[in-house]
Amino acid sequence: MDLNRSAQLFERAQAVLPGGVSRNTIFKSPHPTYVSHGKGCYVTDINGVKRIDFANNMASLIHGHAQPNVTQAIIEQVQKGTAFTLATELEIEFAELLCQRVPSFEKIRFVNSGTEAVMAMIKTARAFTQKSKIAKVEGAYHGSYDYAEVSQTASPATWGDEHQPHSVAVARGTPDNALNDVIVIPYNDVDKALHILNQHKETLAGILIDPISHRVGMIPATPEFIDALYQWSRDNQALLLFDEVITFRTSLAGAQAKYNVKPDLTAIGKMIGGGFPVGAFAGRSDVMQVLDPSQSPLLLPHSGTFSANPVTMVAGLTAMRLFDQPTVDKLNQLGDFARVQLTDTIKKVGIKACVTGAGSMFRLHFKAQAPQHYRHAYTNTLQTQATKYLLNYLFDNGIMMINTGSAMLSTPMGKKEINYLVEQVTSGLTLVKDQFPALKV
Ligand SMILES: Cc1ncc(COP(=O)(O)O)c(C=O)c1O
Repeated sequence: MDLNRSAQLFERAQAVLPGGVSRNTIFKSPHPTYVSHGKGCYVTDINGVKRIDFANNMASLIHGHAQPNVTQAIIEQVQKGTAFTLATELEIEFAELLCQRVPSFEKIRFVNSGTEAVMAMIKTARAFTQKSKIAKVEGAYHGSYDYAEVSQTASPATWGDEHQPHSVAVARGTPDNALNDVIVIPYNDVDKALHILNQHKETLAGILIDPISHRVGMIPATPEFIDALYQWSRDNQALLLFDEVITFRTSLAGAQAKYNVKPDLTAIGKMIGGGFPVGAFAGRSDVMQVLDPSQSPLLLPHSGTFSANPVTMVAGLTAMRLFDQPTVDKLNQLGDFARVQLTDTIKKVGIKACVTGAGSMFRLHFKAQAPQHYRHAYTNTLQTQATKYLLNYLFDNGIMMINTGSAMLSTPMGKKEINYLVEQVTSGLTLVKDQFPALKV
């Protein structure tokens, strides 16, 4: 195999794809790496290099690649047809499984991505409450809907006073109305958040929160914070909206199982598609009724050409049946093992770093202390460069991670893969310490 094959493909790609890529996630300097195939928790690139996959297509492959039962189910469905202008029994079966697992899911609707799920959830909240604004946590990533992405990339130059964070646009040309209709609150700070919410009592349709937001630092939301948001939403005729597109993997009923209160609506996606594009939003029957086409007037008309297509449904259903309680427990224990081992190695190497996360996910930060919110988790130039250096080192030594320094475990993994990861992180951190002396403890 020509060693420059990826470089050659990238040259071709640049002629037809902006920046040579279809999604920024895989962009890498000097060029992306092109894949040959994946099996279980391993991926082989077109040069024949095999790596352990801790990225799992951005947390979407809970069983890794080409899981045999999922693959078989997909093949059988593909032979029967992939999409119809008719309903399927599969969508009912999958809806039943998810609604049985999660107490807050009374009704569910399937869509095609996490972005679409969050967008439709917000529109449902607006249609139900007849109010237009939403509140969201500074720095949280919820996909690319104009409203959901506000302040996702806020920086020290733009984020303003922490008591009153600015609503910062991600993309040039974002309508001012979108910015005005999104209220930004700090994470896990009850007093500051309530103070801000109280200024918008009359107009807030809902509060959107990812309970272990990846970009905010991958720190679980405190029960006090969730309780306070829930109570505020009860007192002010607003809805509590959970984004569990990633965190759904942390238990059979998602991260919400850990709290005393239930969200009114939840968006999910990623792993529930069994490797196929998916999203869904679910929650209270009375709220979801705004989508019911038999109602007149219909408050929220909602469709999608490929929503609940049978290939995604059968892949997701098969994958979620395999994701049973013993499997969740085993995977979460592996997550605990990884966090303990990595924390230990950080101490031994003597570098300003830490590990956050929960369940089967973790994130490495070049911070002496675990960040408590987005402004803490925000990386300065040194920390950004150190993260890049470490991730490149790991990539060159057989490990793929997400470019924030995060990792998502999959069920084919065991201690062998974690031990290898820890070994490589140890040598990588030792090099980082030499390259970036300011990070020495
Ligand atoms: C918490 C969260 N919400 C929403 C999304 C958007 O999902 P998708 O990429 O499927 O549109 C993501 C994707 O990373 C996510 O992490």
